[in-house]
Amino acid sequence: MKVFRKMITGANWKIYKKTCSEVRGFVKELKDIIESFKTDLVDTYILPDPICLQSLVDELGDFPVKYGTQDIFWEDSGSYTGEISPLVLKDLGCSYVFIGHSERKKYFGETDVTINKKIHACFRNNIYPILLIGENAEERKNGMTLNILEEQLQTGLNGIPPDFLSDMVLIYEPVWAIGQKDSASLEIVEESHLMVRKLLSKLYDPSVSAYTRILYGGSVNLDNGARIIKIPDVDGLAITRGALDASNFAEFIRMTEKEACKRFEST
Ligand code: PGA
Repeated sequence: MKVFRKMITGANWKIYKKTCSEVRGFVKELKDIIESFKTDLVDTYILPDPICLQSLVDELGDFPVKYGTQDIFWEDSGSYTGEISPLVLKDLGCSYVFIGHSERKKYFGETDVTINKKIHACFRNNIYPILLIGENAEERKNGMTLNILEEQLQTGLNGIPPDFLSDMVLIYEPVWAIGQKDSASLEIVEESHLMVRKLLSKLYDPSVSAYTRILYGGSVNLDNGARIIKIPDVDGLAITRGALDASNFAEFIRMTEKEACKRFEST
């Protein structure tokens, strides 16, 4: 089944930006470079440190870059010190939120079960989750990639209706490829994205698999990004270090726009 999927390329800045004025400076520069988008076939997002979110929002004005946070809590309100309420995200106009980044699992005890609760919180509040899945080096070495991806999808999406998959986004991000010099090879990206699509067909049905956006993340730079974006099952790029600079981020947007226009014409 051939369908056009709106492409998405975005930046999760983790805590690399050290001040809110740095965040403002980035947006100013980006607006100068991009001026306007060439097509509405592409979405972009920036996920800053949440303390600087309002600065980002103010500086963006009506510039059509979407934004959100790098995590969210599963309850709307209550005694949960340090957490981010879905209601605050809504109030700030956030479109997207990262859920299940492997660093949340490694350092902060995130599990597939808490990930699922957070996705439900997004569903309830009409915020689009960007769910990260991916195997670690040992799991890959032991031939467990398919099982791990299946477990992450099955538990993470438990109880989530198929329609919501057309709004939310998946990122295939092998843990071993994060923070490296280079991304996973094109072969691995291609084969893993196909694996995820097959799993979506199994967990839902082929139409869900065909319309769900799956981005690639893990040491994306301008060089490997230009090749990865051309893989038909890859619907965009998820970047951290490669997108800390406004001119690089602009380049990523341009390469995604080019690919999206090409795909749209051939649909
Ligand atoms: P990286 O990080 O682009 O710096 O490898 C990606 C990520 O952790 O999502």
